[in-house]
Amino acid sequence: MKISILTLFPEMYEGFINTSIIKRAIEDNKVEIELINFRDYSKDPHKKVDDTPYGGGAGMVLTCQPIFDCIEDIKTNDSKVILLTPSGKVYNQGLAYDLSKEKHLIIICGHYEGFDDRIETLADYIISIGDYVLTGGEIPSMVLADSIIRLVPGVINEESHINDSFNKDYLLDYPTYTKPDDYKGMKVPDVLLSGDHKKIDEWRKDQAIKRTEERRPDLLDK
Ligand code: ADE
Repeated sequence: MKISILTLFPEMYEGFINTSIIKRAIEDNKVEIELINFRDYSKDPHKKVDDTPYGGGAGMVLTCQPIFDCIEDIKTNDSKVILLTPSGKVYNQGLAYDLSKEKHLIIICGHYEGFDDRIETLADYIISIGDYVLTGGEIPSMVLADSIIRLVPGVINEESHINDSFNKDYLLDYPTYTKPDDYKGMKVPDVLLSGDHKKIDEWRKDQAIKRTEERRPDLLDK
């Protein structure tokens, strides 16, 4: 899989692409991440990429030309274009699964007050990572790339994501523990030390339901 990220701030990705699982996925050729500064496509003599909004209002708006030209240059029949904006459809694990099956994702990061609405015509997906506003699409693009890359076959052990929160039955993860079995008087539940795998599975399922009821009752409606 290839992920092309259109951003005015490629330097923000240094830690992301050079650390841990993402770094290894790149080294193992499971994924390629291409960072494109779309300012390079600007035809403005000063390489401007934004302008004031028609109708007035605060802030600057990303213009069409650099982003349209960039997409035209890099898009192929295998590409899906994602636009990141707080006004998008809210991202979830199901979408991460769907996107992890694609060959080439192009992610457009907005910045400043937003972008000219005509840029939406380029997008196959218009996505928000949650109901809050960030200063730009760079962190959201890392959220998408991270959640997608870990689902690409061979990046992590498949068992690690089969049991993830939000899989299949829309339940949150059950609680997990590691050594020691008693930390400052807080004890690991006896059942986990029992070696009885049927009982452990039942306990985990119960705990997942209980936790979901307490923290995310909205998921149970699904
Ligand atoms: N840009 C700014 N805030 C965002 C959000 N919540 N999701 C996606 N892109 C954004």
